[in-house]
Amino acid sequence: MNILKLEDLKVEEIEELLENAIKFKKGSKKIDYNGKKVIANLFFEPSTRTHYSFEMAEYKLGCKTIEFTEETSSIKKGESLYDTVKTFESIGVDAIVIRHREDEYYNKLKNINIPIINAGDGKKDHPSQSLLDLMTIKEEFGKFEGLKVLIIGDIKHSRVAHSNIKVMERLGMEVYTSGPEEFKDEDFKFVNYEEMLPKVDVVMLLRIQFERLEKEMSMTKEKYNNLYGININRVKQMKENAIIMHPAPFNRNVEISDDVVECEKSRIFKQMQNGVFVRMAMIEKALNDNSINN
Ligand code: CP
Repeated sequence: MNILKLEDLKVEEIEELLENAIKFKKGSKKIDYNGKKVIANLFFEPSTRTHYSFEMAEYKLGCKTIEFTEETSSIKKGESLYDTVKTFESIGVDAIVIRHREDEYYNKLKNINIPIINAGDGKKDHPSQSLLDLMTIKEEFGKFEGLKVLIIGDIKHSRVAHSNIKVMERLGMEVYTSGPEEFKDEDFKFVNYEEMLPKVDVVMLLRIQFERLEKEMSMTKEKYNNLYGININRVKQMKENAIIMHPAPFNRNVEISDDVVECEKSRIFKQMQNGVFVRMAMIEKALNDNSINN
């Protein structure tokens, strides 16, 4: 089956993916495809965490991998995304992981008959990031229902925010957004950062997506850091058991100060660690479920 956005999955399926990821992490669940499954990783946008943790997940599952590079592919001769993916299907790949700069690129891939796992599309969805965020929250609090989350920053251009808010609300969490007006997304609850900071369980910072801005940010990075960045003084205002998350990469000393990146409340590197295990669970589900859902 395809895993394109979490909206396509029932809550029970999301919970099962998280349970499996936790079992993979603890070592109580093991799968070895013994080199019999081949997965192609097609990244049309730069990526460190998602790309290489999918690759790591594939190694841990005993899959073989093919790494695609746009620059040396026939895309450069004008080949379409569909024809590229159909080629991978034709040569016998078992599943494809795709990150693409275009929103909902997968709508162009309706006639593909091998599973597609979305590793992030434009500003729309980032299902594996949302799952690793949920796994990190589940490990911390043991539940989702009733938790309050504050997402701060470039909400408008963030597939992480768009993906997370939808799934977190489905799981019973209260999600608030904050940041400069220019990055506001009218679809979501917008609050005052300083007022909400001491009331939430999870503070999630977002990277300003400089590469996606239609025009330059109206304020300097220093001013952004003063008004919306998290620093040690702001950390002191958080609830005792509250945690800090960031999908990374981060703009150090813009949305997050150096001394907060690895502070006691930060779960940023745990998020990255968990990314491997949720991606193992996603690959297993995509390979094992033969239903057509494109
Ligand atoms: N969080 C995230 O998607 O990071 P990468 O862009 O490095 O994959």
